[in-house]
Amino acid sequence: MKKHAVITGGNRGIGLELSRMMVESGCRVTVIARNFSDFPLADHKEISCVEYDLTDISGIKNLMSGIPHVDILVNNAGVMYSLPYDQYPDDKKQSIMKLNLEAPVELIKAVAPGMIKKGAGRIVNNASIAGQIGHPDIWYGITKAGLINLTKSFARLLGPKGIVINAVAPGPVETAMLSVIPEERKKAIKKMVYTGRFARADEVAGAMFWLATESPEYINGTCLDINNGAFPR
Ligand SMILES: NC(=O)c1ccc[n+]([C@@H]2O[C@H](COP(=O)([O-])OP(=O)(O)OC[C@H]3O[C@@H](n4cnc5c(N)ncnc54)[C@H](OP(=O)(O)O)[C@@H]3O)[C@@H](O)[C@H]2O)c1
Repeated sequence: MKKHAVITGGNRGIGLELSRMMVESGCRVTVIARNFSDFPLADHKEISCVEYDLTDISGIKNLMSGIPHVDILVNNAGVMYSLPYDQYPDDKKQSIMKLNLEAPVELIKAVAPGMIKKGAGRIVNNASIAGQIGHPDIWYGITKAGLINLTKSFARLLGPKGIVINAVAPGPVETAMLSVIPEERKKAIKKMVYTGRFARADEVAGAMFWLATESPEYINGTCLDINNGAFPR
């Protein structure tokens, strides 16, 4: 039987590349996002599009109760506002915390019982180098650090039940999200990395695909750095 992957934000950017890889590998994929008007895989027979705003945390349990058993959950959807800490509107703080941090927890809570029952399941969280070294958008950094930490917490709780949960921490990736980063900062980051360029979405998606499918189960609770020398350690 085909494995079923749920990918949040699988309609564009890194998530779109991952959706492609998943269906090409023979999985069924459910994509959760707000807008599918430009989604190139919308008509693919193995893809279901679920239109949902993941900042609506209280509705996630109900949303997931209508979705068939999930073998693979990818918490990929995220937002960055790039606002200064002292000019950060409360509604923006609330929405970034909900989308980047609370929604992944709710989604994990929703899929965990089915995975525990089966004694198997994979979860991949798309964090960021921002969660490791800090970020000018402090709430972005806070949410991504939280995502890395909750990956470890859930690995402790769910690892013994057969579930493999890991995160990735990419540096800047060529997607729409980069549009909020000032040009000067982009230049400075490019100078820092080994090959003078940002990551491509498919490079990050490839790493997430591996963690979602065939990485050894002994890799659990970790965060994979994808930063090309921006944070060697
Ligand atoms: N690009 C980078 O430099 C970079 C670096 C490190 C980590 N990341 C992380 O990678 C992940 C994917 O980002 P990306 O670079 O691919 O950016 P992107 O192209 O802007 O994609 C963001 C995705 O999140 C979805 N999304 C946003 N708000 C949502 C909401 N309220 N409810 C449901 N879905 C929502 C979007 O779909 P809709 O707008 O249709 O809802 C879209 O699919 C994010 O978590 C980001 O933090 C990105």
